[in-house]
Amino acid sequence: MQTTIVAPSLLAADFSNTGAALAAVALAGAPWIHFDVMDGRFVPNLTFGAKMIADLRPLSRGFFDVHLMTVEPESLVDSFIDAGADSITFHIEACVHAHRLVERIHAAGRKAGISLVPSTPVGAIRELLPFVDMVLVMTVNPGFGGQKLIPSAMRKVAELRDLRESERRPDGTGFDIAVDGGINRETAAEVVRLGADVLVMGSAFFQSDDPGGMVQWVSSLPRSSRAS
Ligand code: DX5
Ligand code: ZN
Repeated sequence: MQTTIVAPSLLAADFSNTGAALAAVALAGAPWIHFDVMDGRFVPNLTFGAKMIADLRPLSRGFFDVHLMTVEPESLVDSFIDAGADSITFHIEACVHAHRLVERIHAAGRKAGISLVPSTPVGAIRELLPFVDMVLVMTVNPGFGGQKLIPSAMRKVAELRDLRESERRPDGTGFDIAVDGGINRETAAEVVRLGADVLVMGSAFFQSDDPGGMVQWVSSLPRSSRAS
């Protein structure tokens, strides 16, 4: 069985020293880095654009997981592909022709993810499930780090886990389930139990006294073979 992936979110790092943040992620043994791109329109906050990814790319061998919290993600994906993103996740609430955009990301040889805000049901992405590499379940209203997890949003993890089991692809693979928002020592065990494969962690990682211990602890959490 694969171990659960921790994806530290750069949003919680010191933006005056993002290179050091990347080094801390590597030292802690986290294989992914999560980049929260906010446009001040889809969410009420601004962060950074593709240049951040391009400048950091030579400093890391980690998996660059870009989370676009933007309107019209189709107008931005090419710049993030060129910058060196390994995976691009966009929001279903921000894109009408989501299947087309998934295909475009795949044509560039990158992974494609789809995300849901807490008030969007799994049904909204049901038709995309055979095509995406990852579903990112937001467990806070996106826009800011350090918020408290909304417990009812966790139900979607179990729902997706069951859908994946019943819809294995011919080669036996399926999409990964990622959870984003308010994941910490109190909440991680439950989302892993419900079926999460990837845990995005902002403040819990960057404010930890022992980030390496946090990554190891998450890897040791028991996973159920089916959601309950
Ligand atoms: C929220 C972002 C999250 C955020 C998580 O809009 O998408 O990735 O950085 O931060 P924490 O772990 O602090 O809730
Ligand atoms: Zn995120």
